[in-house]
Amino acid sequence: MSGDYRPDTVLAHAGRDPKAHKGAVNVPVYRASTILMPNLATLDAKETLRVRYARRGTPTTHALEEAVCALEHGDHALVAPSGVMAISVVLISYAEPGAHILVTDNTYAPVRKFCEGVLRRMGVETTYFDPAAGAEIEALIRPETGLIWMESPGSQTFEIQDVKAIAAIAKRRGVTTAIDNTWSGGHFFKPLEVGVDISVQAGTKYISGHSDIMLGTIACNAACYDRLREIYLRFGVCISPDDAFLALRGLRTLSLRLRQHYESGLMVAQWLEQQGEVIRVLHPALPSSPYHNLWKAQFTGASGLFGMVIHEQDRTRLARMFDGFGLFGMGSSWGGFESLMTPTNPAANRSATHWDPNGQTIRIHVGLEDPRDLINDIRAGFDRLR
Ligand SMILES: Cc1ncc(COP(=O)(O)O)c(C=O)c1O
Repeated sequence: MSGDYRPDTVLAHAGRDPKAHKGAVNVPVYRASTILMPNLATLDAKETLRVRYARRGTPTTHALEEAVCALEHGDHALVAPSGVMAISVVLISYAEPGAHILVTDNTYAPVRKFCEGVLRRMGVETTYFDPAAGAEIEALIRPETGLIWMESPGSQTFEIQDVKAIAAIAKRRGVTTAIDNTWSGGHFFKPLEVGVDISVQAGTKYISGHSDIMLGTIACNAACYDRLREIYLRFGVCISPDDAFLALRGLRTLSLRLRQHYESGLMVAQWLEQQGEVIRVLHPALPSSPYHNLWKAQFTGASGLFGMVIHEQDRTRLARMFDGFGLFGMGSSWGGFESLMTPTNPAANRSATHWDPNGQTIRIHVGLEDPRDLINDIRAGFDRLR
């Protein structure tokens, strides 16, 4: 998409090309494997073709890549069949025997499992760093450090990282930076604009927005693309054209939905702060958050995912609360139109820092229901703790 358009306009138009598809507003689902060549000369020149075999992309998946690129202000994008696959492609692209990577201690647990279970076997050492580290990260960089992995905010504990400071140090020291940008949906934060090299999302969450597909996205600058694409192609990573179509459909309403998640989430978070059952609310847009200033400096909004710590830790009473909710569902993932609430145990996935909040940590996803109904549901749940 050419031109200097504002974010909502970009989301409405990116990746579309009605003239190339008989006027259809949306790029159709190209359900394909074989792509027939019109003649031998074209076959001989297939290296130059954008569409040559569906594993290497179809017009539908290319449209999604273009849209993700426009959303994240990248030079290039790749799409994968899950957020974890997108993360794995990035991590393994920087894996060389003897290499060292730095990973934030609040990272999504499967990232840690990949580092310990796969990268370690390949001879790559991982050091976990305090998510509160900004420029001090420099002390952990070694000559063999190839990658710094960030997640801001952490998806269970909601620390905001000083991404700009880390990216600046990394650039000076010749280290590539990557971030899990799922929480912002790529809408409230543009990591590549502040010097990060690679921005990954679980498109399963806000890009989809409807809890009906699995998707990973990688947006990157030109310097990283060839390395990432090489691994992507070698592993045969590709996504279904139906999922690409649904992801594009989700993208068109991303900013509308996120605006509502932001407003409703903040309303619920502010209400929670006033409740006696709650020790603290983990939401960077609340002025009480120790990360509020960092959030304000980097983000233009907040999604619907945040946390709280409550006094109650007795599993039987907690079960009474969770099992009786009328609106909050319990399950993995987030970013859909529906609200979720799950108890979490962030301490189990830490090694460089401690998570010891003296209560039960809970993750909440505020969906698109009326927040007043959600508040009533939580109030009734708290009452069941007695
Ligand atoms: C922060 C974060 N990153 C990545 C992922 C992985 O995405 P997926 O479930 O699509 O593999 C998740 C999934 O819950 C997540 O919460």
